[in-house]
Amino acid sequence: MDKVLSGMRPTGRLHIGHYFGALKNWIKLQEEYECYYFVADWHALTTNYEDPEDIIENRKQLVLDWLSVGIDPEKCTMFVQSHNIFHAELSLLLSMITPVSWLERCPTYKEIKQEQTNKDLSNLGFLSYPVIQTADIIMYGSKFVPVGEDQMAHIEISREIVRRFHHLYKCDVFTEPKGLLTEVPRLPGLDGRKMSKSYGNAITLSEDLNEVEKKLKRMKTDTNRQRLTDCGNPELCPVFDYHKVFSTEEERAEITEGCTTAGIGCMDCKMILKKHMFELLEPIQDRRKKFETEITDINEFLKPMQTKANAQSEAMMNKVRNALKI
Ligand code: TRP
Ligand code: SF4
Repeated sequence: MDKVLSGMRPTGRLHIGHYFGALKNWIKLQEEYECYYFVADWHALTTNYEDPEDIIENRKQLVLDWLSVGIDPEKCTMFVQSHNIFHAELSLLLSMITPVSWLERCPTYKEIKQEQTNKDLSNLGFLSYPVIQTADIIMYGSKFVPVGEDQMAHIEISREIVRRFHHLYKCDVFTEPKGLLTEVPRLPGLDGRKMSKSYGNAITLSEDLNEVEKKLKRMKTDTNRQRLTDCGNPELCPVFDYHKVFSTEEERAEITEGCTTAGIGCMDCKMILKKHMFELLEPIQDRRKKFETEITDINEFLKPMQTKANAQSEAMMNKVRNALKI
């Protein structure tokens, strides 16, 4: 079976954007591939090196979020990056052969550095992020890496690093990974901007349902539709972006008809959305509660999977050290 690997940074509760943008696909992939899903906690440090104290709690919450949506320990291997020290060794060795210019050219590097002006991102770890990511990926011989558009450049760097390694050390220990581009539906935040925890415009998977309802009620609509008698345009409305993900085609046709002729109010429209959103979130939250009570120690829970990942890494590192003859 081909291997799939992907990771997420433990930066807080996952939201519905993560669900439709990644997790839904992860759940499907675990049926078809040998999947490795890991908590990328060192990666979180590349930009948040000043406050590591949240990481332990966030790691646990991330795994609980995964379990609650149906990532299944019977079907895949979940582990924590920093509990597998071999990732650091491989990353170090890869850094020897990675030209700095490849990293400086990387679009995410340039963008995040420009955007996050409140942080000092002149640290080496942030620049070498794609090298650490490459180590994560090629450690397990992963063939496919499900990622969003923004990560495709990193996978490209991974492929180049693999080719360079094979060329320099005349070996073929690694598998060249391919990015599996996940088609991400446009799911804006409640204010119409990109959904992000830092904007406070997200609906998390573990959000209290009363709170979800309040947020929906406050959600921005087509700004031209001030009164019930104004006709609206669903294509200009963030609520309708959600309907594209949550509702049926018939419902969308009805909403479009009603919105453009002022036949349906925005509140009615939002309540259709609420119904679907609750249908998604309720079972997720029930499962979360179950796991929250069942799992007292998250590291203990992950242990068998972590052990498997680490053993595979050790075997891989033996091959790598052999190739380098050190
Ligand atoms: N860079 C990814 C992100 O920020 C997280 C990540 C780290 C990752 N290592 C990875 C994703 C390896 C896929 C494969 O979302
Ligand atoms: Fe948006 Fe629905 Fe109101 Fe139209 S009726 S503006 S789609 S919330």
